Amino acid sequence: MELSKKNIIDILKSSDTSIFQEADAVRKKFVGDGVHLRGLIEFSNICRCECLYCGLQSSNKDVKRYRLSKSEILDITQKGVDEGFKTIVLQSGEDIFFDTKLMCDIIEGIKQLNVALTLSIGEKSFEEYKAYKDAGADRYLLRIETTDENLYKQMHPYGSLANRKRCLKDLKRLGYETGTGCLVGLPNQSLESLANDILFFEELNADMIGIGPFIPHPNTPLKNDQAGNLALALKVMALTRIILKDINIPATTAMETLSPNGRMLALQSGANVVMPNLTDDFHKKMYEIYPNKLSGSRKDLEKLINSINRYIVVDNCGSRN
Ligand code: 5AD
Repeated sequence: MELSKKNIIDILKSSDTSIFQEADAVRKKFVGDGVHLRGLIEFSNICRCECLYCGLQSSNKDVKRYRLSKSEILDITQKGVDEGFKTIVLQSGEDIFFDTKLMCDIIEGIKQLNVALTLSIGEKSFEEYKAYKDAGADRYLLRIETTDENLYKQMHPYGSLANRKRCLKDLKRLGYETGTGCLVGLPNQSLESLANDILFFEELNADMIGIGPFIPHPNTPLKNDQAGNLALALKVMALTRIILKDINIPATTAMETLSPNGRMLALQSGANVVMPNLTDDFHKKMYEIYPNKLSGSRKDLEKLINSINRYIVVDNCGSRN
């Protein structure tokens, strides 16, 4: 469907909910009823960044920081493989302890276990991205967070939107399946800027888009700001499905955290991926990007997926080609 920026803004504004059924139909037509599982491993919560919204920002001194060793990461991966996961997502804060050599070593170790590997470890140089790719990484997730220049600067006092865009272009150029996405409900975020985010996803020709509502964290400067609205986040997601059609879209944990059926609603409004957390409970608790981050069991997830007449896909692709 051809949608102009104005059309998108009008849909975001309106109380008409037919967009959710439309997105569900586009999802069914282009990617089918299968739900792809990605096993998430949060291997370090140490971060050099100062994203205002994020509980792991470096100035939050109340976080117990941890990093897992290569062998701990491989053990969790093996457990995931034993449970049937075929895709692993390695996520961390921007922790420079994991230099290129160590990262490549971990990537090679994981690839020996015969899984597709997604990295979500932040902004790096072209050379670093290339080294990870050469070591076997398949996909990379890096949310743009917001394409609004002013808001980006407010939210990331030491970052730059231009560099974030450079990273995404490099990842695409290197042949990664590239995921990005945005936060919905940041303070002072306009509907127009959300429309621009969606158009940016299209321009980048992203392969995966993760969209989540902002949830205030008590140890951040945004602690007194309002949480994002689930319905609006779902709308941004539904529009993304309608415009980009065959991409992968996760039902994000932030949606589930805001509402007990957030994940189900997401799966029925365009989403076709879920990312269960494989990190052990001890470390999982310390990876607090936002409070009360949820993670249900694989069994519950299976029940939920089957209850809406969908099924879990056991393969390592779910890719666009
Ligand atoms: N609320 C919701 N999502 C958040 N993220 C970071 N902080 C928050 C928050 N307070 C998201 C960012 C990041 C992803 C890993 O988590 O979009 O890319």
